[in-house]
Amino acid sequence: MNVLIIGGGGVVGQKLAAALAARGTLRGQEIAKITLADIVDPAPVDGPMQIETTRCNITDPDSIAACLTAETDVVYLLAAVVSAHAEEEFDDGMNINLFGALNVFQRCRELGTKPVVVFTSSIAVYGGEVPDPITDHTFLNPQTSYGAQKAMGELLLTDFSRKGFLDGRGFRLPTISVRPGKPNRAASSFMSSILREPLNGQEAVCPVDEDFPHYYLSPRKCVENLIRGAEIAEEDLGQNRAMMMPGRMWTIRQLIDAMTAVAGPEPAKLIRWEGQPEIQAIVKGWRFDLRPEKSVKLGLQADESFEDNIRYYLEDDKPAG
Ligand SMILES: NC(=O)c1ccc[n+]([C@@H]2O[C@H](COP(=O)([O-])OP(=O)(O)OC[C@H]3O[C@@H](n4cnc5c(N)ncnc54)[C@H](O)[C@@H]3O)[C@@H](O)[C@H]2O)c1
Repeated sequence: MNVLIIGGGGVVGQKLAAALAARGTLRGQEIAKITLADIVDPAPVDGPMQIETTRCNITDPDSIAACLTAETDVVYLLAAVVSAHAEEEFDDGMNINLFGALNVFQRCRELGTKPVVVFTSSIAVYGGEVPDPITDHTFLNPQTSYGAQKAMGELLLTDFSRKGFLDGRGFRLPTISVRPGKPNRAASSFMSSILREPLNGQEAVCPVDEDFPHYYLSPRKCVENLIRGAEIAEEDLGQNRAMMMPGRMWTIRQLIDAMTAVAGPEPAKLIRWEGQPEIQAIVKGWRFDLRPEKSVKLGLQADESFEDNIRYYLEDDKPAG
């Protein structure tokens, strides 16, 4: 079993690689090789199997062909530019999120080996005049270029699967929090930084009110779900290969209360409240009342509590010192 993680240098890709390396098996087979591919050099990951890191730019079909070969059994397509980046730089979003995904799918088709392809979409595919709650049957109506690119990627994944070119499974990720590392160019970046920075003794700015609701999942559960996602039998996936990944709705106040319950009262004092209209304009249109059934039936899971998300960050990611 050879696994390729495209976008393997990113936050989810690194964690997924580490989890697969520790697990050692996927789809009932021993993992012989994990390849981490990214436009920047991915950090190496330890494991008992062969683990390679390589550069790959998904806007270039030759670059994909160099790492996605007839020996690849499972492809995780995580490479993307995130919401605010795709909004500010339209060409980057189209070239990477849409045409890059198409290039990967076309490479699978060209190989004729029908690899399993796990594609990370986003709950940003929902929006506009669709009624709440969002269910498995809600139509996609993205209100950002990023969401539109992800929705188009999903359609391609389903059609390439229907044609038998690949065995696709797409998951609309909730906002992943607490995300390790530095703030990124996602409009949701503050949904991690208001916890992560205070947990590390640093100030953070919250650009929305404390009653702002949103839909979250921890990185740890996200990775477990991506592994489960690759293992679902093809015949159980149905005709629409893309579905919500389960998460839970919390308000900003609930996130902060969870942090206080786990880490005491000091971190919350480091949050400054500063309304930012440009961030609010993007995030206020996001949907938070999501009721996934299909993915839950297929064995994917949400976190039990936001306290868990805080504990996972402290156990898995908090820098020492
Ligand atoms: N983290 C979240 O909250 C969240 C929410 C919804 C969806 N997603 C999706 O999940 C996936 C992983 O997210 P993440 O948080 O790990 O993001 P990330 O930004 O940490 O990782 C994405 C990786 O893609 C790489 N990349 C960008 N352009 C590339 C290109 N042209 N060729 C090859 N690699 C390229 C980047 O260098 C980066 O390492 C993405 O598809 C993202 O859209 C994430």
